[in-house]
Amino acid sequence: MHGGRAERLRHELAAREPAATAAGADVRMVRAPGRVNLIGEHTDYNLGFVMPAAITLETWIAAVALAEPVVRLTSLENTETREFALPDPGPRQGEWIDYPAGVAWALGQLGVPLRGVAGVIDSTIPLGSGLSSSAALELAAAWTLSAASPPPLAPMELARAAQRGENVYVGVNCGLMDQFASVFGRAGEALLLDCRSLEHRSVALPAGHVLVALDTRSPHRLEASQYNARRAQCEAAVAALAACQPGVHSLRDVDEPGLDRLAQLVDEETLRRCTHVVRENERVLATLAALESGDLEQLGRLFAESHASLRDLYEVSSPELDALVAIAVSVPGVVGARMTGAGFGGCTVN
Ligand code: GLA
Repeated sequence: MHGGRAERLRHELAAREPAATAAGADVRMVRAPGRVNLIGEHTDYNLGFVMPAAITLETWIAAVALAEPVVRLTSLENTETREFALPDPGPRQGEWIDYPAGVAWALGQLGVPLRGVAGVIDSTIPLGSGLSSSAALELAAAWTLSAASPPPLAPMELARAAQRGENVYVGVNCGLMDQFASVFGRAGEALLLDCRSLEHRSVALPAGHVLVALDTRSPHRLEASQYNARRAQCEAAVAALAACQPGVHSLRDVDEPGLDRLAQLVDEETLRRCTHVVRENERVLATLAALESGDLEQLGRLFAESHASLRDLYEVSSPELDALVAIAVSVPGVVGARMTGAGFGGCTVN
């Protein structure tokens, strides 16, 4: 399949960019995967734990260098061509091109030499499915736009640059999980990331089982604004607690007694959000233990608790996600099911 896709990209690029057919033309072809998150939802920007796994759905870019400082990209999904200038991509356009432009902006801030390119983008990650089509596009763009291949940044710095582009340029206050998973993901394993120390390790998946992502195909509703609102609630709670407990810098520093203290300081809704985050972090570590000891029943319970918490406390599930989870757990052989990613629509992980 890779051979076929590479051929198709080469062909589509040549049809649009005569430079790509010149003798000796240097076509750079890159790809970056999407991800599912096993557990640890809305914990990354609270400096907690996440456990994502890269998936076989991925985003490709084939590009040739241009003499002028311009990035011109065509999405084969909708055949739209969009462009921006280097080194300053200008204001965001409110479209998919903002993700590559945000990466260009962030890499530029770090002093990474960039090149003008003309390229085509192809992706098997359904847009808006919660499988990190944005992060995959960002990382593919980073590998495409860097003058040097690979970019002169450590992998974690590259992931953080892509995240910064999305935070500052695109305006989505996401955490590091998706970009991290796209950079570090490897076939057949999940990854545990401590979003505070940035320490990470691989986690073996149970033999004889497969990870299945199921797409509700329901649109994300108000995702970016709701997402940013959740994050703001968590940060407000941390600020309230830090005022009387100076050692608290994030919800990672909060335990059950800390939640009791928070109950005196914040409104009931904010307390529910924080309760989700604090206990979800514990569930990630419990999931690691369950995977390592092969306790799949416990894994199923933790998935169920995580989903209920995202539905009732963090309030980011949807009727479609709840229905898919209910159906999946009624199927013999399914170990566990829960919503994955930001929520408000998108996929379940099973
Ligand atoms: C989105 C964000 C991630 C993470 C998840 C929720 O995928 O991009 O940083 O916050 O939502 O866990």
